[in-house]
Amino acid sequence: MNRQPKITLRPLSAALGVEVLGVDLRASLGRATAEVLSAALDEHTILLFRDQDLSESDQLRLADAFGGPSLRSRPVHKRAEDNPYAEKIGLVTNIRKDGKPIGSLPDGELWFHHDGSFIDLPYRATILYAVEVPEIGGHTLFANMYQAYDDLSDDLKQQLGGLICLNIFDHQTTAGPADPDQDLSAVRHARHPAVVRHPNNGRAALYVSPLLTARIEGLPRQESDRLLAELFKYTSNEKIIYEHVWRPGDLVIWDNWGSTHARTDFPADQTRLLRRSIVKGQALEAAV
Ligand SMILES: [Fe+2]
Repeated sequence: MNRQPKITLRPLSAALGVEVLGVDLRASLGRATAEVLSAALDEHTILLFRDQDLSESDQLRLADAFGGPSLRSRPVHKRAEDNPYAEKIGLVTNIRKDGKPIGSLPDGELWFHHDGSFIDLPYRATILYAVEVPEIGGHTLFANMYQAYDDLSDDLKQQLGGLICLNIFDHQTTAGPADPDQDLSAVRHARHPAVVRHPNNGRAALYVSPLLTARIEGLPRQESDRLLAELFKYTSNEKIIYEHVWRPGDLVIWDNWGSTHARTDFPADQTRLLRRSIVKGQALEAAV
């Protein structure tokens, strides 16, 4: 029987995001539901599903609905060799075994960034499923990068025409700017337009972040730093941000082409464990 989805979308904030009601992610979604959710992601940038009880295979099946999973991206990753999902689902956690983190990005604050801006084909989306969360902090902030671009003055928009940025993932630094003068052969890095056109919805989005964007190519260092600092005022504007307070069983999928995200600090003695999978992406073209 071809079941038509009855899905309700409830806004999460004035800035971006919707909660999705009426979908059981443990069941195979079916084509009609997958299309509705994929279109909702392009339109709303963040989808939240509450009270989900998901296996790793459920989580990977969801990635299929949005274009297929990418292999895990983290260079630091410790999963059991016999876990069939270890290549495609990573752990974001501060749990340690023999003093070493069993996952990635274990501790504390994490500055705003796009997942995947440091590779040539940036991921379309990230899927994060909360297993255990601290009582305080460890929230995820999501920022609407279409709005950040729209808010720029005409003069700033004009300055960004044709500009390309260098983005660096240096996993040593999670709450500080990447150093553009470091040896790039030792870190993952990629260049993308400062303003990208979203491949699915055609909208212009600012594609810079304080954690990963190290330099605007073709400008003297001082001029690049000044312009980036000016742009970061817009990308961290409160009015474009939704703050997600995690509950166990939350699954959030977010669009990495039209948003950035950050993590607030949390106590080192409280456990935070989330499962992360990635939806593969494509090259991004300049919007201006
Ligand atoms: Fe991230």
